[in-house]
Amino acid sequence: MKKINIAIDGPASSGKSTVAKILAKDYGFIYTDTGAMYRSVTFMAIKHEVAFSDELGLVELIHRYPITFKQSEVGQLVFIDGEDVTLAIRKSDVTNNVSEVSAHELVRKELVKQQQTIAKDGGVVMDGRDIGTAVLPDAEVKIFLVASVVERAERRYKENQAKGIKTDFETLKTEIEKRDYIDSHREVSPLKQAEDAILIDTTGKTIAEVVTMIKAVVSQKG
Ligand code: C5P
Repeated sequence: MKKINIAIDGPASSGKSTVAKILAKDYGFIYTDTGAMYRSVTFMAIKHEVAFSDELGLVELIHRYPITFKQSEVGQLVFIDGEDVTLAIRKSDVTNNVSEVSAHELVRKELVKQQQTIAKDGGVVMDGRDIGTAVLPDAEVKIFLVASVVERAERRYKENQAKGIKTDFETLKTEIEKRDYIDSHREVSPLKQAEDAILIDTTGKTIAEVVTMIKAVVSQKG
């Protein structure tokens, strides 16, 4: 398999990371979760008491505390300056503030640089909001995944239940809608389908069906 780059974008909980991980495993590519990087900056801001509005303060955190990924048997782990934050960056204090942090131009500039370095030799499946439009505009394959907000909230609700986390369905749905609104209305690299991306609506589809559809695209372009 040629070492191409595959960009997967879409709104919150549209199934991006689930299918991206499967594709990376099947092709022997590197999976990069760019959302985890913005979440890590938000986590650092909370920990070090830097305001979400303090753009330069956030950039300083990125310079001071490197974000790294490590593959393990239980999946991809995220570390900040050596501390395992894999679970901490999924908590609601991070989720509900990450869109404010990710809207800053300088924060994006720093993280995009790191993402482009990871993908420079190809063989990467990268998921996010601006991969096809800004991070890897030359990616060989670009996919834009969408699903109805009700289905996305249901998936998140079930995931939380399985993890033993109690959540309210309506609250989850409102949080997803709010995050999508901010992400798609920000000035810098808003969540948007790239002109040359293939749109896949995952509503009512199984993970296997979506993976098969993307593999069909890859086999044409790869
Ligand atoms: O993918 P995930 O839901 O973990 O992303 C968390 C947040 O990070 C998004 O809601 C968005 O604000 C930000 N993000 C971004 N650009 C990316 C990936 C994520 O702005 N490429």
